[in-house]
Order: sequence, then C-alpha cells, then structure tokens
Amino acid sequence: MPVAAPLDPTIRGPESRVFENLLAQKIVGQHEAIAAVADLFQLYEAGLAAPGRPVGNLLFLGPTGSGKTRVVEAAAEILFGDSRAVIKVDCAEFQHSHEIAKLVGSPPGYLGHRETHPLITQEALARYHTERVKLSLLLFDEIEKASDALWQLLLGILDKATLTLGDNRRVDLSDSLIFLTSNLGSAEIDGMIQKRLGFAPRNEATSVLDRKIESAAVEAARRKFSPEFMNRIDKVVVFRPLLPEQLERILDLELGVVQHRLLQTARTRCTFHLDSQARGFLLREGTDLRYGARHLKRAIDRHLVCPLANLIASEQVAQSDLVSVEYDERGGRLAFAREPGKPLMRRSASDGEAATLFAASLAGFPVAAAPAAASCAPRDRRSLPESTRARRRDR
Ligand SMILES: Nc1ncnc2c1ncn2[C@@H]1O[C@H](COP(=O)(O)OP(=O)(O)OP(=O)(O)O)[C@@H](O)[C@H]1O
Ligand SMILES: [Mg+2]
Repeated sequence: MPVAAPLDPTIRGPESRVFENLLAQKIVGQHEAIAAVADLFQLYEAGLAAPGRPVGNLLFLGPTGSGKTRVVEAAAEILFGDSRAVIKVDCAEFQHSHEIAKLVGSPPGYLGHRETHPLITQEALARYHTERVKLSLLLFDEIEKASDALWQLLLGILDKATLTLGDNRRVDLSDSLIFLTSNLGSAEIDGMIQKRLGFAPRNEATSVLDRKIESAAVEAARRKFSPEFMNRIDKVVVFRPLLPEQLERILDLELGVVQHRLLQTARTRCTFHLDSQARGFLLREGTDLRYGARHLKRAIDRHLVCPLANLIASEQVAQSDLVSVEYDERGGRLAFAREPGKPLMRRSASDGEAATLFAASLAGFPVAAAPAAASCAPRDRRSLPESTRARRRDR
C-alpha cells in the first residue's frame, strides 16, 4: 500500500501570502487583524467559503485611531488599487428607522422613490470587481449606534448573505467580507491607558494591559449585543492601543502619503526632506496614546501639510524643488527652506529621504518613478509675482 504523504495545512497559497505581507506593510502592529483578514481571503481564494453566507463576518473592537477602519481600506487598496473600494455604512447615520431608506431605497409608490438610491445594491457590490477578484468589502462603522431596523437588516446579511431592497430586489452578499467596528468599552480602555502611562516595566505592563483591554472590549460587546448577533460573527478582533515605536512607523507611512500627494496632485509638484529632529518634533506633538494615530495625523497636517500648502500657494516653492524641513528649537516649530539646485531626483538620497521614499513605496506608491513623471520643466516665470521672481533670481 502506498504511504500517505504528510501535508502542511499551515502554508498559505501564494496570493493570500502576498496579500498578508502587503497588509502587514500598510498596517503597523494589529497582527491578529491582519491574520484574520488574510484567513478569510484564503478561504475565498480556495473557493471554500460556505454558500449562502458572507465569506466572513469580522467584528473589530478597540480604541479610537488604532487602525480598525484602516485595515479595511488597506485591504481595498491591495485588492482593487483604491482605498475607497469599500461600501461604508456609518451606522450613526441610520439611527432612526425611517433613514433605512437611504440604505435600501424606499418602496415604489413612496414619495421620492425614484430619488432614493440605495447604498447597497448588486451593482455597487460589483463596482470594483476585477477579472481576478470578485470579492466585495462592506464596512459597518459604529454598529452600537444602529437602530433596531438596521439591526434586523444586519442580522439577515450576516446570516443569509441577502438583503431585500425597498423595491423588492434581492441583493446577494455571499461574495462579501463584512467588517463591523465598534468603540464599545472605549471609555474603560481610555482609563486603563491613562493609568498605564508612566508605569514600568514596559513589556510586562503592555501584555497585562493588552489582556485587560481585550476582555473589557469583549465584555462590553457581549453586554450590548444580543447572543444571536455575536453568534453570527466569525471572529472578534480587539485592536491594541498603538505604542510610541509603532506611532514612529506610522509617521513614516504618513510622510510617504504626504510625499505622494505632493508628487501626484499638488499644484506644484515637489519633494520634501525631514531631518531627524523634525521627525522627533512631529512625534512629540502627535503622540497622545488615547487618540492613537489620529492625533499624529493631525500634528502632521498642522505642522507640515498646512505650511507646505502655504509655500505652494504663495509660490515660494517651484516645480521639482526639494523643501528641507528642520526643527527650529527657539521657535518651537518646523522651519522650511528650499535647497537650491538640488531636486531630489538629481542627488543621492540621505537616510531621512530614503526613509520617506521607502515609506511611500510601502504605502504602495510608485515614488521612484514619480519625480521624473512630474515634469521638471521650468515654469512660466512671467506668471509669477515680481517678489517671487526676485527670490528665484537669488537662488
Ligand atoms: N495600525 C495602524 N497602522 C497604520 N496606520 C494606522 C494604524 N492605526 C491608525 N492608522 C492611521 O490613523 C488613521 C486613523 O485610523 P482608523 O481610521 O483606522 O482608526 P479607527 O481604529 O477606525 O478609529 P475609530 O474607532 O475612531 O473609527 C488611519 O487612516 C491611518 O492613517
Ligand atoms: Mg474607524
């Protein structure tokens, strides 16, 4: 008799391996969430998702600004090249039963029937499908705020993967990944994070805190949501508060995003370089562990993006300029300067620049090619105000 060959069921297929790796490059920490999404993608890829149900239902809990929504957007970027390739239902907008019409459309004969366009339709689900991936991503945010009527719809979706629209059309959601997010337990979690601050030893405190946060979030969810709802969830993932070193990695990712925007959509395409002190300043300003990466993004906007917008709008920066950003210790703010004759593409990258470029490429952006694509042709100087032209002459 031939001997059975042993198999290794822990090995993923190539697509879901790539998917998981890309997700891990875009999401800092939150390994459990990354693995949960990759598991479901693997299920879909293998064609083993249960028929008549969504491919998977994931409930994301945990503190604000820790990446719950970002995980879904990043999955959409990887699968469809667009972070907006997700149907997002903000449950806070559907707190009253009559607002459900915005979601499913109103029945024929009702006033305004033709004007209400349902959010979840078969066409909307298929909108971003590619030849390769026919999976749809649905995100229900802040589900604790959903009205009873929305709950009924949700239970149907999570269990049977169907939704009946106002005009009786049926929507099949069996090729969908359903994500539900909630901040339940966040007040309690907030208190725990506050208490932890300043305590040592760090690693021990972190793992104990993690467990406490997990049980606080899950308990809060069990208290609020009915057993029949919790029973329909394939996996509950509790997101962890971001640690300072994780915020530092997110800073690099976000700087990459700003750089990409400067090269792709800004009126004047240019690049910037932050020295290590300037990075340190942004991190200090952007670290508030209660608000996670949201606070960091606000600091980047306030101290970097808004000043850059001013520099572009006032034409102090020209096409393909390199803006160097340093920390002005006396002023307690960032100082901006144009490095004359040193557009990024013509010089070897310093460490800081490399970090910015690397972050941009991690974020999935074609940074290396972008400066060349962003035309470096001299601008029409006649269109500049005299003061700007004078500054240019001095360079
Ligand atoms: N773990 C993470 N990795 C990478 N970026 C992150 C992470 N967490 C947050 N961010 C950044 O912060 C932004 C806000 O995070 P996100 O919207 O995912 O928060 P959230 O957990 O959904 O919070 P809320 O509960 O308030 O909705 C994201 O758009 C992303 O830029
Ligand atoms: Mg969110």
